This record gives sequence, C-alpha cells and structure tokens, in this order.
Amino acid sequence: MTDLAKLESETLAAIAAADTLDALETVRIAALGKQGSVSALLKTLGAMSPEERQEKGPLINGLREAVSSAISQKKAALEAALLNARLATERLDMSLPAPETPQGSVHPVSQVMDELAEIFADMGFAVATGPEIEDDWHNFTALNIPETHPARAMHDTFYFPDGKLLRTHTSPVQIRTMMNEEPPIRIIAPGRVYRSDSDATHTPMFHQIEGLVIDKGIHLGHLKWTLETFLKGFFERDDVVLRLRPSYFPFTEPSVEVDVGYSEINGKRVIGGSEKWMEVLGSGMVHPRVIANCGLDPEIWQGFAFGTGVDRLAMLKYGMDDLRAFFDGDLRWLRHYGFSALDVPTLSGGVGA
Ligand code: PHE
Repeated sequence: MTDLAKLESETLAAIAAADTLDALETVRIAALGKQGSVSALLKTLGAMSPEERQEKGPLINGLREAVSSAISQKKAALEAALLNARLATERLDMSLPAPETPQGSVHPVSQVMDELAEIFADMGFAVATGPEIEDDWHNFTALNIPETHPARAMHDTFYFPDGKLLRTHTSPVQIRTMMNEEPPIRIIAPGRVYRSDSDATHTPMFHQIEGLVIDKGIHLGHLKWTLETFLKGFFERDDVVLRLRPSYFPFTEPSVEVDVGYSEINGKRVIGGSEKWMEVLGSGMVHPRVIANCGLDPEIWQGFAFGTGVDRLAMLKYGMDDLRAFFDGDLRWLRHYGFSALDVPTLSGGVGA
C-alpha cells in the first residue's frame, strides 16, 4: 500500500470512529489543519518537478477531497443525531392528564368584581374605568369638594410632589364618564383606591365600586330599586332588607347611607332580616352642581350614584375577618379563599359560583 493510500484509509477510519462533533473536529485539524497531515502533503507539491507534480497532484488533491467530503458527511450525520436526541427529550405527550399542581386561583376581590359586573350587566350597566393617579379637580373639585372643604382632610390623601394624587375613591370616574359620554349613562366603575390608613379593617390600598346613572326623570326610587336588586343578587337571598339613612356627601343631594340587615349566627354575620344593621353603601342623587361641572344641564339630566367597598363585600359574603390578609399573597390563604378560574359567575348559575 502506498503512503498516500495508507494515510487515506487511516484518516477515513478516524473519521468513521469519531462519535462526537468535538472528536470529529480533532480529526479534521489533524488532517486538514495548518499542521495537518494532508496539508503537509499539499505543501510538498510546490517543490516538485512539473512531471512529478502532474503525477502526484491529482492523487494528493483527490485525498484532500475524499477526506473533506467524509468529514462533512460525518458532521451532518452527527448533527442530525444530536437534533433527534434533543427532539426526543423535548417530546410532549399531549394526551397525558394535566398535573394536579400548581394551580392558580382567582382572588376573592377579582371574583367579587366579576360577580358585580355580571349583576349590573344584567341591569344594563357598562363597566367604566379611570386612572389611579388623578388630579385634584377630578378627585375633589368637580365633585363639589372645594379646596377649603373639610372632606378633603377626611380622605387622608396620598399626594405626589407635582400636586397629583392617588385617587381616594372611584367617584372621579363619575366625572370622567359624564365629560366623555352622552347621557343616558349607566356605568359601574370598579377599581383600586388609596388612603393613608392601616389596621385590621383598613389598608392603604383597597377596592371600591362606583355606580352612576344619568338620565331624564331619575329619582330616589330608581336608586332604591337598583341597590335592592344588586344586594339581593350579590348575597343570593331574597330576604335582604335595606335601610336608607339620610347622610351627607358633597357630590350627592340628598345623600343616603344604606344599611343592610343581618343576624349573628355562631359568631358570623349572616345577611338577611332586620335584627341588626350594618352600613354597606354611600349613595344619593347626583348633585346638580356636579352635573353642571361636567358640562351637562341639570335641568334636563338627573341621576343617582353610589359607592361601596369591594373588599368589605367580599369579607361579608365569604367570611374573612382580616382585610390585611387580602394583600399578603399567602398561598395558603389564596388556596382556601380563592376561586377556580373556570367558575365564571353567571346569574343563572348563582353568582357565588
Ligand atoms: N365616594 C364615596 C366614598 O368613598 C362613596 C359615594 C359614592 C357616596 C357615590 C355617594 C355617591 O365614601
């Protein structure tokens, strides 16, 4: 066997034996690299006589071709094998049952907001939203709370250095809706609100839902019917009794605070009847000045508004007693009080899911 034939068969054997891309690269460098055995042979061509070169040239070049094509074939084969191995490990059996854990849950606040949206949608209310960073005018002035008004101090407002503030209630959404939409208006506005206050029943951030109706000929009777229908639907009881008490809010006239009757059974509050009373809502007829502030004529348009705490409604309905736990993100609490993502509240199925 000539030296060339021997080198060829040895190199091809080494290529065949290489079982990783790294090993193959080592073989390639040993043959075709700068100091490689085949490269060394190619370099000898320059020093040859023309006759010798004519004889050896094709042989040496043939050797180089054979080696480099064997290397690229082997490389393709190794890469294909690698890809197949990876695909095999990444295979997903779509017919396997879903794992039992981890499983998320719907927070009671989100659940209650969904329930409220469902109840009010049935009465023809749309959902409206507004910014949590508000200006003084929307949060106070337009709602008939001028700068010197004591109600501003009552709100424990968080202010930004530029004079903006974190909204203290969802009532500014009343203003934004009246400014941007033509009456008749029927909206609810659920969302986060902020007050500098913290104990077992107050957190600096909490949730409210606002309701607003603006139309012609609206009176207190419409307000009472709406709240009754809402609370009966929400607590899923027909024996919900409301008590309307005269009250004061700068943006409603007259203003009405709404109590709901309950009884205490085994230390828990159970809604229904009229044994004891608990305040659940602030409401009233929208003050004509507020309607005028939004560019509407209060001689033509009247309406009512109400606002209530979503977290408190959730506590009442689902029996939690510490508001702070709502925002701790404790998984055990969330598993216990959370709702299945697939239990979408519907009126026909009972909004409590
Ligand atoms: N914005 C009032 C509050 O936060 C509630 C309210 C809303 C009262 C609408 C009347 C009408 O206490």
